[in-house]
Amino acid sequence: MNDHASSVDALARRALEEVAASGDLAALDDVRVRWLGKKGTLTEQLKQLGSLPPAERPAAGQRINEAKQTLQAAIEARREALERARVEQELLSGRVDVTLPGRGEERGGLHPVTRARMRIEALFRRAGFDVAEGPEIEDDFHNFEALNIPADHPARAMHDTFYFPDGKLLRTHTSPVQIRALISRGAPLAVIAPGRVYRSDSDVTHTPMFHQVEGLVVGENVSLANMRAILHGFVQAFFERDLKMRLRPSYFPFVEPGAEVDMSCVFCDGAGCRICKHTGWLEISGCGMVHPHVLKASGVDPERFTGYAFGMGIDRLAMLRYGVNDLRLLFENDLRLLQQFRAF
Ligand code: FA5
Ligand code: MG
Repeated sequence: MNDHASSVDALARRALEEVAASGDLAALDDVRVRWLGKKGTLTEQLKQLGSLPPAERPAAGQRINEAKQTLQAAIEARREALERARVEQELLSGRVDVTLPGRGEERGGLHPVTRARMRIEALFRRAGFDVAEGPEIEDDFHNFEALNIPADHPARAMHDTFYFPDGKLLRTHTSPVQIRALISRGAPLAVIAPGRVYRSDSDVTHTPMFHQVEGLVVGENVSLANMRAILHGFVQAFFERDLKMRLRPSYFPFVEPGAEVDMSCVFCDGAGCRICKHTGWLEISGCGMVHPHVLKASGVDPERFTGYAFGMGIDRLAMLRYGVNDLRLLFENDLRLLQQFRAF
């Protein structure tokens, strides 16, 4: 080893000792500047290469660069160790109180549709109903066939169904849960089934995804009068107002007779306004007495059991209850709307 080489090695050893001895990040940075900075000792060594005989320069340059790299790696490792020690020290001295709430935290709230759904569930549970569920991806049997809507039935055209390539579909209503609940629980039963449904249509009062809640009561001697009483009781409790309700004859293949449920307009108290199209009434639900074909398709004896069913639009109920005048506002997630539903 020539003189130059041994002096570079000696410098490098000294530098490494200084790194190991630096007790904090500031001291470590001083060491870095003193050795590797623009005027640092090892940097100066490189500058002085020219004074060596030409034959020795390449080997000497390589040695200096290696020394610089070793030193850099040592500084990095020391920096990490010091940083870790600093964090540990801070934690030990209790300056970070992990039980404090985070900064910039804001109060959240439930979406009006979720609120309406929870309210509906609570009211029907109190009246003795169970909450049932079914899949959003349905098959033809549950969404149509078992509901007395065979393949060539014109009612299928009203449903604007989204189909998958394998023939499965996005359920167009919550009525398929009637079939699932009857098959799995049998009669007698009283269930509601809230959830998302999908139809390929979109305008002021229609969105491609919306929410329904199905109701189904099957037992011996279940009558249309029972249904009327339950629905009217629900409307009064949900709106906490003495609202009128009427059943208007209508057609759904899975009920007989079938009807549409109207309630007096909450905006004008039945006097007639823009929202109720000057009729004084708002449509909130379809309903009827369960068709014998539906009971039979679900393995329930229609000679022994009768039942009623209804399907309400949750979004529409939320709109009416919370005074939102455009259905689409519910799905735009505009914070100015959502912040009005914050928890207090
Ligand atoms: C049905 O879907 C029937 N399954 C309801 C039913 C169940 C009848 C049980 C009889 C027995 P309809 O397509 O009318 O019916 O929808 C029911 C309710 O869902 C409507 O009254 C309305 O409140 C709501 N609704 C329907 N389409 C939309 C839509 N695109 N956007 C928002 N709400 C809608
Ligand atoms: Mg309708």
